[in-house]
This record gives sequence, C-alpha cells and structure tokens, in this order.
Amino acid sequence: MSTGRPTPELEATIGGLSRRLAEARAAGRTVGFVPTMGFLHAGHCSLVERARVDNDVVVVSIFVNPLQFNPGEDFDDYPRDLDRDLEMCARAGADIVFVPDGPEMYPEPVATTVRLPALADVLCGASRAGHFDGVATVVAKLLVIVGECSAYFGEKDFQQLTIVTRMAADLSLPVRVVGCGTVREPDGLALSSRNAYLSEAERSQAPVLLRALEAGAALVQSGEADPAAVEAEMASVIATAPLAEIDYAAAASASTLTADGPLRGDVRLLVAVRFGKARLIDNIGCRAG
Ligand code: PAF
Repeated sequence: MSTGRPTPELEATIGGLSRRLAEARAAGRTVGFVPTMGFLHAGHCSLVERARVDNDVVVVSIFVNPLQFNPGEDFDDYPRDLDRDLEMCARAGADIVFVPDGPEMYPEPVATTVRLPALADVLCGASRAGHFDGVATVVAKLLVIVGECSAYFGEKDFQQLTIVTRMAADLSLPVRVVGCGTVREPDGLALSSRNAYLSEAERSQAPVLLRALEAGAALVQSGEADPAAVEAEMASVIATAPLAEIDYAAAASASTLTADGPLRGDVRLLVAVRFGKARLIDNIGCRAG
C-alpha cells in the first residue's frame, strides 16, 4: 500500500550515515534520531512522528544490540521483521533508516563500557545485571555516530530514559534527549515488542500492570508517603492475576529512581512482571506531598 511518502533510504555503514548527516547539518538542517531494536509498533511510530514534527531530517536506527542481553535472555529469538519496520518508518515519516550489522557496530570485542551504576543497578538492573551498561554503551555510540540531534525515547522504558538523559548531560553530548509518553492498547497494556510473546490467557491478564500503578498512584495522592505501603498495594493488585510473577513494584523519586525516605515531589511508580516468557514493564508518574 502506498503511504504517500517516499521510502526511507537505507544506510548500513557508520561512515555513510555520518557523511549524510554532516552534509545535512552543513545545509542548516536539524536532525531527529529515534534509536530502536526494530519490530516496531505504534509506540515507536509516535517517536518517529514527533521527530518528524520537530526536525528537518529524521533517522531511525534498527539494531538488536547484543550487549544489552544477558546469557539466557531472548537475543536470538528477539522478534525481527525488517520489511514491516521499513513500511512503518515510511508511514511515520523517517528519511533514513540506519541498519548496521553486528560487525559494523562492533568490529572488535568491545573494550569500552559506559556505566552509570547508581541508576543502572536498581529496578530492572537488579535482575538484569549489566543490561543498562549495554544500553548506555550502544546509545552513546549511536549518539556519537549521529552527532548533534534531538533524540527521542519512550517513557515506557523510564529507567532507560533517565540513564540516557544523565549520560548525555555527563558526557556533554550535543544531544537534546526528548522523553515521549507511553502508548497503550485500549485496555491499558503498554505497547512493547515483547507483547508478541504473550499467550491469549497471559494477554488478557497483562493490563494488571497499569491497574497496579493506578492503585499505587491513588494511594500516593491520598497522602501515603511510605514507599513500602505503596509498593505493597501495587504488589497486591498484581497478585490478583494468576499468571503474573512479580519481579518488582517500586515507588521511587523520579530523578534518582530510589526512595531513601518518605515520598516527596515527583514520584515514579514502576513495575516489572513476568508472564511466561514475557517480562513486561510499565510505569507512571505522580506527585507526593
Ligand atoms: O529501547 C530500545 O529499544 C533499546 O534499548 C535501544 C535504546 C534502541 C538501545 O539498544
């Protein structure tokens, strides 16, 4: 089906992408960048559409980054469908799709790791050791390749967004990191490439994540400042779904991702829940005190 937009140009090399973007910037054009691991859904498309509104040139990268998967995780099985991704990129308004292969990104074993321990070792990092080191390392590399740009990340991966924002500031990268709201199914399930793993029964119970977050937010808004009480409330809602296996339910400061005392100011509520093979995450913000 024609989208009415030109098909984005494919670029597989780092040198080729850098040259094109250097030329664009020299001509005074701004660059928007959306890094992805492919198997795009409407959540990714909303990032590309936002980048399209804000910028003259829009680049999407598709690279399933081995550094952010632990042994035994789903790197080999991670869903991939390049033709469908390109169609979605075209429809959302991408100009260039960067599709490096493994050797292009990592011609040598990686000796450099970007690590933000205070933000990376909590929440998802506690059960996925090294995951955010892999994310920060590949995102740093992609941002260096792309150069001066606005880069768009979903709030659905709030810990990732927090880490990337801090990394860009700490390293003075010439990048404006833009966080974009979570896109949800009508029943509240946050869009994720990993939703493809859910059986019908698991899918029907998966909206429990948002229900738990909303119950936690209602408690905070009613004046509860004890993170443990809010976490217990969220865990009790998750426990109502028989197929759900809770990894964490956390109430934390939105900036540090930890809670060292009573909840105050901008709070983030975050949950991670396994349904069979799928590990789902979600989060929402609220105000305390
Ligand atoms: O959110 C993702 O899909 C990935 O973590 C990212 C940011 C593309 C890095 O591989």
